[in-house]
Amino acid sequence: MSKDPLVEVEHISKRFGVVQALKDISFQIYEGEILALIGENGAGKSTLAKIISGVHTQSEGKIIYGGEVLNCTSTKDARDKGISIVLQEFALIPHLSIAENIFLCNNDMYENGFWQNRSRMIEETYKLFERTGIDFNLDPSMRIEELTVAQQQYVEIVKALSNNSRLIILDEPTSALSKSEVTHLFSLMRHLNANGVTLVFVSHKLDEIFEISDRIVVFRDGLFVRTLTTSESNEQELIHAMVGRDIGDLFSIRKRHPVGNQMLVVKDLVNSHYEQPYSLHLHKGEVLGVFGLVGSGRTELMRSIFGADPIKSGSVAINNRNVAGKKLKIAIQAGFGMLPEDRKHHGLLLEQSILDNIFLACTANSKEVFRKKRKESILAKKMIQELRIKLSSVDDPVNSLSGGNQQKVAFAKWLLLNPDVLILDEPTRGIDIGAKFEVYGIIDKLAAQGTSILMVSSELQEIIALSDRVLIMNQGRLVKELRHEEAQEELIMHYCTLDNFGGKDD
Ligand SMILES: Nc1ncnc2c1ncn2[C@@H]1O[C@H](COP(=O)(O)OP(=O)(O)O)[C@@H](O)[C@H]1O
Ligand SMILES: [Mg+2]
Repeated sequence: MSKDPLVEVEHISKRFGVVQALKDISFQIYEGEILALIGENGAGKSTLAKIISGVHTQSEGKIIYGGEVLNCTSTKDARDKGISIVLQEFALIPHLSIAENIFLCNNDMYENGFWQNRSRMIEETYKLFERTGIDFNLDPSMRIEELTVAQQQYVEIVKALSNNSRLIILDEPTSALSKSEVTHLFSLMRHLNANGVTLVFVSHKLDEIFEISDRIVVFRDGLFVRTLTTSESNEQELIHAMVGRDIGDLFSIRKRHPVGNQMLVVKDLVNSHYEQPYSLHLHKGEVLGVFGLVGSGRTELMRSIFGADPIKSGSVAINNRNVAGKKLKIAIQAGFGMLPEDRKHHGLLLEQSILDNIFLACTANSKEVFRKKRKESILAKKMIQELRIKLSSVDDPVNSLSGGNQQKVAFAKWLLLNPDVLILDEPTRGIDIGAKFEVYGIIDKLAAQGTSILMVSSELQEIIALSDRVLIMNQGRLVKELRHEEAQEELIMHYCTLDNFGGKDD
């Protein structure tokens, strides 16, 4: 990596109507580096990436590329100059082949300006595959619609190579990839980089950034915050730059308290998805984490315990009161609450106001016929302050809020009922790191006040840090229970991926 700038971003601003997406941004991209561009959702990362690659035009400022002012009016224009972008939403044509997509706009591949030279396209595509240094085992005549997301992304990158790109910008390339696909992508990125391609990697995943980048540029709310050298930085410093404040160490958030009596007892519960019965219990003030890979049956188990899905047999007791097979309303009255995995479809009425959503569960639970608007607005205000929900008016629809604030509204809805047992299914999925830590704080506070929490999360760190006990699910079974002190990452992954449990029912 040199210190010669390939790209100089100078005082770039961008407005979309009244939205100021970028304000006076200046930084440099060095020739031959892997630069991570990071920031929370809405920070302006994609907007800047799109300005450099010709999708958008800036409102103010200029981009210098290779010493000259860059004025791209289209992505084709940028590609011709050696700049390619791989967008989050790919730009491939589904019913055309890989080779056709790659050479779509390449005049050399047409004879008399019309007839495609198919065999040459295929031959050239193979050559490009070779240049990537990775064998994806693809046939260039396969149609895009036959490919997985990771394979389509690979085609986008190959297409960038076909333009002899000097700079490739990848906008959140890992968000839809599995772990092994990310590993593949990273080796591809390293290979390209070793062959002289400068890369900009847009992301908000800290571990990935530390793994792949040389330097990091941080944006917050449309502003440039700072540049960091990856090898000299750490997660703490990066989070501080992204969020604008210290949010502490994940592992010191949860204060350990002694737990009380059994509040929730699930016995021999059989749901409609798996044959084996589930039994578990949860103490007062305890956080019980449930971890498993996607498809291990976590959400199905949570929904059947709560009563959102029908069960075949077994019992679910809250405070010694059996609620299995009863109406949801009865479970809620007994002190049960649940934040579902998919808050868009099950948790919130997105078109309705924030106020209505906060009182959703209360209204359902109330014996009163009329809602008391004044009392509601005072309570709502208190909740909004307590949970630090950022909004302009409680009468705005919920879908006008960011993901993190929507999730806080979902919490507020249940907190007003003061539940004894709360099920949280992926409580921090899709929300920014700052909001995540606030959710952790809420979970800790609830537990300290005596609420018992049953929590599913795909984020192992989160489960380990917050849980008093961890239950591990694998292929529809609860295969292991670990105490907080025993819950090590490797051990948990071992039980998640174990393929054989000996007997049929153990
Ligand atoms: N085409 C657009 N029209 C209006 N507003 C936009 C458009 N693109 C982005 N924005 C707004 O600009 C801000 C920055 O967005 P974006 O660059 O997508 O952020 P990031 O990629 O960091 O999540 C956000 O407030 C977003 O809503
Ligand atoms: Mg983006």
